Amino acid sequence: MAQSRIQGFFKLGLDDRRAAINKALDGQIPDEASTVWQHGGLSDQAADQIVENVLGIYSLPFGVALNATINGQDRLIPMVVEEPSVIAAASNACKMVRQGGGFRAVMHESLMIAQIELRRVPDNAEATASLLAAKASLLDDAQSALAGLVKRGGGPRDLEIRSLAEGHLVIHLLVDCRDAMGANLVNGAAESIGPRCAAIARAELGLRILSNLTDRRMVEVEARVPGHALLAAHHELTESEVLDAIEAASVFAERDPYRAATHNKGLMNGVDSVVIATGNDYRAVEAGAHAYAAKSGRYLPLSTWRRRGSDLVGELKMPLALGIVGGTLRVHPGARLGLALSQASSADDLALLAGCAGLASNLAALRALATEGIQRGHMALHARSVAIAAGAKDDEVALVAASIANAKNVTLLAAQEALLQLRKSQG
Ligand code: MEV
Repeated sequence: MAQSRIQGFFKLGLDDRRAAINKALDGQIPDEASTVWQHGGLSDQAADQIVENVLGIYSLPFGVALNATINGQDRLIPMVVEEPSVIAAASNACKMVRQGGGFRAVMHESLMIAQIELRRVPDNAEATASLLAAKASLLDDAQSALAGLVKRGGGPRDLEIRSLAEGHLVIHLLVDCRDAMGANLVNGAAESIGPRCAAIARAELGLRILSNLTDRRMVEVEARVPGHALLAAHHELTESEVLDAIEAASVFAERDPYRAATHNKGLMNGVDSVVIATGNDYRAVEAGAHAYAAKSGRYLPLSTWRRRGSDLVGELKMPLALGIVGGTLRVHPGARLGLALSQASSADDLALLAGCAGLASNLAALRALATEGIQRGHMALHARSVAIAAGAKDDEVALVAASIANAKNVTLLAAQEALLQLRKSQG
């Protein structure tokens, strides 16, 4: 696995950064990398084959978060995101978690749910009993419909029945989709066994489609951070105060859905960036995450943080159905490059990586909010873009950015003035 600690990485120029990542991957970076990094990787002709009414390409920044160690191994985290500070914050949080031994991440099962809806069921109990009696043969039918997947070691695993109301049932066909996200596979299986299910239940066949609430494909991540790793030189709080303040920020989200939504948004900054970088369906992941957050009837945070003595312990639990084969990966060189950087050995392994990125982003946000507030870090990074917009080049960027950030005046006008003064002073 690639060494994820690369000293001074953010200070390097673009070419040197690319070279450092290639070196970390033992030169195994795909040939198409340079085109991807310069042009996003997707040609307009390719885009025209993927969706409809295409006019062109829309690109986003492609970066990498460093310092992650997951289950004892160093990992690079590919991230595609437009928001300044997300990647820096995730790298920074990974460094803190690393000091406590890194992330521990696990998936206990990895099953997709295909829903088969039955309406006008004459008798729920009788239909349920008949369907359960036919379970083995229905699973055989699903197995035939998924012959290719079965050859790859996956396939239907179980069938469950839920009653929604009198006369209204839904069957859940549980399918192991191996390295695919599996939407097309499970939709096909549901359509294939749906009519027989309806006949057995003497019901009208309703919808046949996957559920994006993939709560049988859950990622669990834990991070233990030593209190001293959370401190920064400019913090005015003691180590103990920082630990308590982060726990209090977690409790706020646990008690208030308005805060939980923002807490989860920060966490999804990390998750979605990985999901997008690897060509996965971020709408599906978002739908699942928020449905799971609200599953108890109250919208809750997907992660919690508690002080344990002089350590901070964070736990994340969320549905994450990702794929490393098929779909976008077939057609998008950028997604292939993201996957290469992730070095994911399976779809589940990629989901663990995305979950860790989520917990890292969440930790970075809570630590900033609980100590100095979010604006200081944001402003420092925003100042760089403003300095560039004002015309600063090379070394001037950092100097102008520091000048306007320190003066707490991050505006284009202030940057232009600072640049003028800088150039004057340098003759
Ligand atoms: C901004 O993208 C994310 C935060 O709002 C997350 C949070 O409040 O926890 C900073």
